[in-house]
Amino acid sequence: MVWSLIGTAFWAMLPAYVPNNAAVLAGGGRPIDDGRTWGGRRLLGDGKTWRGTAVGTLAGVALALGLNAVVDPVGTAIGVSLPTFPLWGGVGLALGAMAGDIAASFIKRRSGRERGASFPGLDQLDFVVGALLMAVVLAPEWALATFTPGVLVVILVTTPLLHVGTNIIAYKIGAKDEPW
Ligand code: CTP
Ligand code: MG
Repeated sequence: MVWSLIGTAFWAMLPAYVPNNAAVLAGGGRPIDDGRTWGGRRLLGDGKTWRGTAVGTLAGVALALGLNAVVDPVGTAIGVSLPTFPLWGGVGLALGAMAGDIAASFIKRRSGRERGASFPGLDQLDFVVGALLMAVVLAPEWALATFTPGVLVVILVTTPLLHVGTNIIAYKIGAKDEPW
């Protein structure tokens, strides 16, 4: 029962976990806010770029479709009945993860935090909330059937731990400027 919740949570959130990491690797170029400011501070900052957002979203959607191709063997191997991703479910998770991260940067700038500053809590959950909300909007039936209360609890508890872990690795290998 718990194993099934953990397996489903991790599997269903993979298309939301990958975009941020892909954006870190692909980021650069024109910032989304084009340098615009509001109240003397950048709207979003140089850390949110068109290229990072596009590559991140595409990576998440491609992963969702790739996972569909191996859902049966993986499900059998771990003994869990895993969900397949409808296209709009994958788009919702990937685009929502990017949008949540962008919304967090907007909030960080409004609260006076410079690019790269940490905001504990927001940094770890912004993309989860964005991904789940966008999935519910774009693929409501699938999202409500997949993200049951038990699965949601597992996601909210384990995602911050995974996020902290992968960002420390990204920092150590030099892909990220800060360990958060
Ligand atoms: N990135 C990007 N586009 C995005 C998200 C991330 O290009 N939509 C890239 C940027 O190169 C960014 C890096 O990934 O610097 C790390 O992402 P993140 O930690 O989210 O950005 P920060 O630079 O820390 O900026 P912020 O303080 O706004 O989070
Ligand atoms: Mg950051």
